[in-house]
Amino acid sequence: MKRILVTGGAGFLGSHLCGRLLRDGHDVLCVDNFFTGARRNVAHLGKHPGFELMRHDVTFPLYVEVDRIFNLACPASPVHYQHDPVQTTKTSVHGAINMLGLAKRLKARILQASTSEVYGDPEVHPQTEGYWGKVNPIGIRSCYDEGKRCAETLFFDYHRQHDLDIKVVRIFNTYGPRMHPNDGRVVSNFIVQALNGEDITIYGDGSQTRSFCYVDDLIEVMVRMMNSERGFTGPVNIGNPVEHTMLELAEKVLMLVGGRSRLVYQPLPADDPRQRQPDIRLARDQLGWQPKVGLEDGLKETISYFRHLLQIGVAA
Ligand SMILES: NC(=O)c1ccc[n+]([C@@H]2O[C@H](COP(=O)([O-])OP(=O)(O)OC[C@H]3O[C@@H](n4cnc5c(N)ncnc54)[C@H](O)[C@@H]3O)[C@@H](O)[C@H]2O)c1
Repeated sequence: MKRILVTGGAGFLGSHLCGRLLRDGHDVLCVDNFFTGARRNVAHLGKHPGFELMRHDVTFPLYVEVDRIFNLACPASPVHYQHDPVQTTKTSVHGAINMLGLAKRLKARILQASTSEVYGDPEVHPQTEGYWGKVNPIGIRSCYDEGKRCAETLFFDYHRQHDLDIKVVRIFNTYGPRMHPNDGRVVSNFIVQALNGEDITIYGDGSQTRSFCYVDDLIEVMVRMMNSERGFTGPVNIGNPVEHTMLELAEKVLMLVGGRSRLVYQPLPADDPRQRQPDIRLARDQLGWQPKVGLEDGLKETISYFRHLLQIGVAA
């Protein structure tokens, strides 16, 4: 049993991770400033004797005693990370420095939740970990992309310079219950629009592709990565390599929700990648992992979560 710090623990992925770690018998300290996370995401864990929730902003130093750190704190969707881009960069960069400093003091293993956005608008398809990416350093997505890239740099410099035990995963699009209902991400957008009987907005012509990983699959591989042998630092791509066009996704959501929403088309936002698909051979070979949950099963769970949110009036 270990004491594990999860930053961003009240967010979408963080709340699932906290639940999983408690089920595995660990004590969990969940730290969050509730920018995009919510107490309701971890309310069901509140009575667990091993669970503790702390309001804290990771851009400030944190002094706690733990054995391991999962660093997830960072708004993840464009609407949220573009709301205060300077704070987004600070969260990635100062947050990484503060958590790495903590890990160094405690000699604790630390895992960084990085992102496929480090590849930018990739020229290589599918993306392997060896690809360095094509990122615009001055665009409206740069606060997130470059912030995450700098955080990776810091992780690897702490590893080389201080022999810190680091793990870096690059997460590709993930979806599931407890996604933020108004985060503008395509899965939540389509589902909420369909449940409200509104038109479903497709950016561009809908032929751009994404691969979607169900949250349970993603949490499984994050835990495997944290438990992997010392020295296996990554970065490791984690996500589901099965690609879908936006049009396919919209049609599947419509089919599962029912209703009479129409598909409407709008221009593509700036710097929106046309295609994104992980090469997960490294995760498969080193961690013995591959995603199991198909899109339709994952969407059903997610739809029923959003249906509940709409019923209790949390999502509009
Ligand atoms: N969900 C995905 O598809 C995806 C893809 C790639 C990377 N990621 C990464 O995974 C992590 C979790 O993403 P998510 O989808 O759960 O997003 P989320 O927005 O639901 O979770 C992020 C959490 O971090 C908290 N947070 C933000 N700034 C903070 C700060 N300064 N101090 C403390 N807490 C802060 C938020 O309140 C929220 O609870 C993020 O680092 C994100 O970049 C997610």
